[in-house]
Amino acid sequence: MTEPALETRDLGSVAEPLLVFGGVYSNLEAFEAIEKVARERGIPASHMVHTGDIIAYGADPAECAGKLHDLGCPAIKGNVEQQLFDGAIDCGCGFDEGTGCDLLSVQWYAFAKSRVSDALCRWMGTLPDHLTLSMGGVSIRVVHGTPSQVNRFLYGPEPEAEFTGELDNVTEDLIIGGHSGFPFFRRFGARGWLNTGAAGIPADDGTARGWYAVLTPADGGVEIALHGLEYDHEQTIAKLRAAGLPEPYAVAMQGGPVPNRDTLPQALQARAGKRLDFAVEKMKARTLASAS
Ligand SMILES: [Fe+2]
Repeated sequence: MTEPALETRDLGSVAEPLLVFGGVYSNLEAFEAIEKVARERGIPASHMVHTGDIIAYGADPAECAGKLHDLGCPAIKGNVEQQLFDGAIDCGCGFDEGTGCDLLSVQWYAFAKSRVSDALCRWMGTLPDHLTLSMGGVSIRVVHGTPSQVNRFLYGPEPEAEFTGELDNVTEDLIIGGHSGFPFFRRFGARGWLNTGAAGIPADDGTARGWYAVLTPADGGVEIALHGLEYDHEQTIAKLRAAGLPEPYAVAMQGGPVPNRDTLPQALQARAGKRLDFAVEKMKARTLASAS
């Protein structure tokens, strides 16, 4: 069977700051906090980018999908948008069979599927698979999992070849991905890979913060800043419990262990529970980087 061609939408050259977020995961309070950050930074919806999975663990799947639709910001399909559009019976996250996330995802996916309208599911299916843009001369491709696979997990500490093998499939300098839910930035020579983490669930760092990134044009390149997102997680947790959704997600939203901790790369398990913070990184345009 031939796989359908991926749809890529080009945003062109972006000269103003871009707020990139993904993995809202049906967490309305986190989404509202992202909007507040954008307002405070003077970033309009046209310069907000969602990297997929607007729906997952939380209690407000229809509200979050509706808000993303109404916001009208550039957004791509995650595996969850694709599965809901296809009318699939599971989230297509790619969890190993029988793992905690595999078993728990059955519950939130069924909950979401029962609440999101057919019209919103059809709209999610119209979202592109990838976005491309350039900023400060740096060419960027926004994907959900990896360029080759919507539901491939790359958490950050994997061997370099796992990333360079994917980078070999594309021409861009910087990949921005989501899906795995853990924020990181890594360099591979003059190229880079950014995961903005998930807005809607913490990164197992002992805090209740979600994550997003702001990309800002800089002299001959782009500055990349990963930020923790403070929001009213207690309200989110109360709604999740009232909806009868799985308790392990409530624990994770409080900053406790994520349900898939035992399946994560060893390096992530070793740092679990320790607060994450990131320095601002700078990537140069590849022509400048290779000339310097
Ligand atoms: Fe995903």
